[in-house]
Amino acid sequence: MAFKEISPEEIKDNPFKLIGKDWMLITAEYAGKVNMMTASWGGIGVMWNKPVAYIAVRPQRFTKTLIDATDTVSLCFFNEKYRKELAYAGKASGKNEDKVAHCGFTVDHSNKTPYFDEARLVLIGKKAFAQNYKQESFIDPSIMDCYEKKDFHTLYILEIEKVLVKE
Ligand SMILES: Cc1cc2nc3c(=O)[nH]c(=O)nc-3n(C[C@H](O)[C@H](O)[C@H](O)COP(=O)(O)O)c2cc1C
Repeated sequence: MAFKEISPEEIKDNPFKLIGKDWMLITAEYAGKVNMMTASWGGIGVMWNKPVAYIAVRPQRFTKTLIDATDTVSLCFFNEKYRKELAYAGKASGKNEDKVAHCGFTVDHSNKTPYFDEARLVLIGKKAFAQNYKQESFIDPSIMDCYEKKDFHTLYILEIEKVLVKE
């Protein structure tokens, strides 16, 4: 089924379900290597008068090396039938294996940004901001339970350049 481009305002999904429950694949490409990781933390909204998505990526993720090396990233959302692939992409690392081939996904590009044909909703994002979380910035100390290894996320705010949907 073909994708149709819509505006960010036309996204019908509830972001809490979309990201927190359905999960997304964060995908980036550098030097011919495409890799994706599953994420369930993040959001969509408005910043600097721009439609944005924000994601948080831990330093040990292979995908982070690709995100840092490129200007754009895609966020792909899938129907429930791909849950197994998303669980795999959230466990295996592109450091050791070809995750795209393992999932049998077809890579498309929007300009130079890779995304998956199997997705039902795709956000193409241009990096606008990146900052590492710092321990002293946390106001609620209970959040430190997420950081036993002190592997603080990097927050990326992406300007949403394009939204593709299958209806
Ligand atoms: C449901 C789910 C949600 C996840 N959310 C995140 C996240 O928001 N940020 C993050 O850094 N890792 C998250 N992960 C972990 C990465 O997806 C996982 O470490 C993955 O293997 C990294 O792959 P890579 O090394 O190929 O980048 C999540 C994993 C799962 C299963």
